[in-house]
Amino acid sequence: MKNGLDEVVAAETVLSHVDGEGGRLIVRGHDIETLAGKAAYEDVVTLLWSGVVGDAPAPGAPCTDVAAARVRAFERLAPLVPFVAHLTPIEATRFLIGVIGDSEPLAKPSGMLATVGVAAALATRISEGGAPVPPDLARGHADDLLRMIRGRDGDAAEVAALEAYLVTIIDHGLNASTFTARVVASTAAGLPSALVAAVSALKGPFHGGAPGPVLDMLDAIGTEDAADAWLAGALDRGERLMGFGHRIYRVRDPRADVLKAAVRTLRGRANRIALAEGVERHALALLARRKAGRRLDVNVEFYTALLLEALGIPRAGFTALFAAGRAAGWIAHVREQETSGRIIRPQSRYVGPMPASAA
Ligand code: ACO
Repeated sequence: MKNGLDEVVAAETVLSHVDGEGGRLIVRGHDIETLAGKAAYEDVVTLLWSGVVGDAPAPGAPCTDVAAARVRAFERLAPLVPFVAHLTPIEATRFLIGVIGDSEPLAKPSGMLATVGVAAALATRISEGGAPVPPDLARGHADDLLRMIRGRDGDAAEVAALEAYLVTIIDHGLNASTFTARVVASTAAGLPSALVAAVSALKGPFHGGAPGPVLDMLDAIGTEDAADAWLAGALDRGERLMGFGHRIYRVRDPRADVLKAAVRTLRGRANRIALAEGVERHALALLARRKAGRRLDVNVEFYTALLLEALGIPRAGFTALFAAGRAAGWIAHVREQETSGRIIRPQSRYVGPMPASAA
């Protein structure tokens, strides 16, 4: 038995490949570094979905397709805001996606991509007490989500940085949330159900819930001088250092540097990057000593935290925004799984007591 399904290959996919030893992420034949910061999110969605997802946005017009779906999603979800005001953004996102019925037009791939984005933006906006901001048909996905979350336009550098983030996280092999989506898809439960399940898996701090706690950690450390003592104390208490470690990567997560480069394009971030780099150095040295043989390195969430903070996105909304970007990957995996046509049903090994044998 493989505890945690380590090294088990549970699906074949044409979508993405994570090379844990090489520190490489390939999306539909392209290294992530050649896509992030160089292509619009909708163009990478088209690339990812092509030949896999039935209603992939048409090349050349993807922005319009997804924007129109955002408008429909907003009309459907905004009236529900009073019912989710007490929830965290990721809890509210989970709820809002769950109201889409299987037979609604929004349950199609473009509709669900827009629904997850609009749900995440609405949920984050209202968590800060802001009024819902309707989508703008003329904008790209990253531009519009940033505006809907913050209630003000992003400048060109901010929009480009968020675009780079959404592309960087678009798909990542059989991670926990994607596997969850495929399990649900394998029962033919439909796209909205698979996405609610995926969001639920993403929510945990061992997966997509880490970047908010990364900032809490940087705040608590304060200055690089204090890093060693703070980090050692956390490990002494048996805690995990948020933003470090990965099941597959045994070297540096390639997405971390893509995101660090994106943070550098934003004005006034130099000090926070310097602190983060210092904390990273201390954490890696400490982990190498304390967890010798584990080969723990920095993961995507560490510099995600800095990037989203620099964009003025409330930290409570980080995981919801992750869901908005990853939704394209989940949707493609759901369609790929549905066409493979086999229910995912592993076995367990029974280690409990047996019934007393009949006399
Ligand atoms: N801090 C301290 N110790 C760690 C860390 C860490 N960040 N990561 C792994 N370890 C330790 C574990 O305690 C465990 O040690 P033990 O056996 O002595 O108890 C061992 O290393 C497990 O190592 P792996 O098998 O490599 O890790 P696993 O695959 O079980 O977990 C995970 C991977 C969940 C990402 C883990 O590294 C972790 O919790 N990291 C912190 C949270 C985080 O950054 N999550 C975001 C991940 S990226 C993403 O999902 C988008």
